[in-house]
Amino acid sequence: MFAAGCGASRLAAASSFPMKDRTGPSMLQEAEAIETRALEEIGRADDPSDLEDIRIRYMGKNGDLTRILRSVGKAAPEDRPRIGQRVNQAKQAIGEALEARRAACETGRESASGTLDVTLPGRRPPLGSKHPLTLIREEVSEIFRDMGFSVVDGPEVEWDYYNFEALNIPRDHPARDTQDTFYLGSDIVLRTHTSPVQVRVMEQQQPPVRVIVPGRTYRNENPDATHAFTFHQCEGLYVDKGVTMAQLKGDMTYFAQRLFGGKVKVRFLPDFFPFTEPSVQYDFSCVACGGGGCRICKNTGWLEISGAGMVDPAVFGFVDYDPELYTGYAFGMGLDRLAMFKYGIESIHMFLENDLRLLERP
Ligand code: PHE
Repeated sequence: MFAAGCGASRLAAASSFPMKDRTGPSMLQEAEAIETRALEEIGRADDPSDLEDIRIRYMGKNGDLTRILRSVGKAAPEDRPRIGQRVNQAKQAIGEALEARRAACETGRESASGTLDVTLPGRRPPLGSKHPLTLIREEVSEIFRDMGFSVVDGPEVEWDYYNFEALNIPRDHPARDTQDTFYLGSDIVLRTHTSPVQVRVMEQQQPPVRVIVPGRTYRNENPDATHAFTFHQCEGLYVDKGVTMAQLKGDMTYFAQRLFGGKVKVRFLPDFFPFTEPSVQYDFSCVACGGGGCRICKNTGWLEISGAGMVDPAVFGFVDYDPELYTGYAFGMGLDRLAMFKYGIESIHMFLENDLRLLERP
């Protein structure tokens, strides 16, 4: 009846079928001729809007078949049923042909000759990549694993005891003010840092302990380009006989150079944390300008990474480690900051906004 594939030729404008004679037999012939003509046009149409034009022209309110039906009263009474039947038959055939043709056009894979064009380029599905925070977590974990650390996890909803108390931050300690804590109950918080996992690990095992804890943390901070209500840290803890501050600096330097290249330097500045003594803030020389000063390091040549220090003997007291026998170092690092420096991302909020550009494969 008609070719299943879409033909190349565009639809020629077809005029309405002339209907002068209103006798029964001629109306039957008209219905037949209309059907033939409509099916031909459908066979030539190659786009759904042409098909819609055809439907309206033949079967719409003023379509040719509709007009025959409307004038069927002018035919002799004995002819009327046959005419009605014939018109309905034509309508059904045209309707089915339109549907089949529309389906064929929509598959969109037929070429002008009505066959599959195997030379058409395929459509490539968009490829994603890992989130920058996943990438940085994996890379940081790999470096520390090579240094003999294991990777452990801890709860994000944390007891006040682990988040503060056992880290030598009692209830009335002023250090609590700096933590902008989200309290979920009088003694349950969203952890403000990954340090509580230090205590959980030391409760569970005796030295030597060498762990890192990458994870999510929460603080009720005023948001800006580098602060969000949730962020990520990676805690590090190394406890054994004879662990020193020099080891902390050496390990930090090794880590910084593996992550950012051999020229990066590490510096320690004095700081205070209730759970380390002495405490430091540690910085990496700017990975963007090499230390000369630029916008990223605010012309200081240095990037602040986080805090560190020697584990305070008071913390050992909470986990029954003998402070006469053991020493340890601990550090925290901001994973979001590391990812921002590594991948040149300007705002921490990019990590939370599901912006697909972040996940497109480079
Ligand atoms: N937990 C501290 C913070 O979030 C960082 C830190 C970790 C400091 C370990 C010392 C030792 O600021």
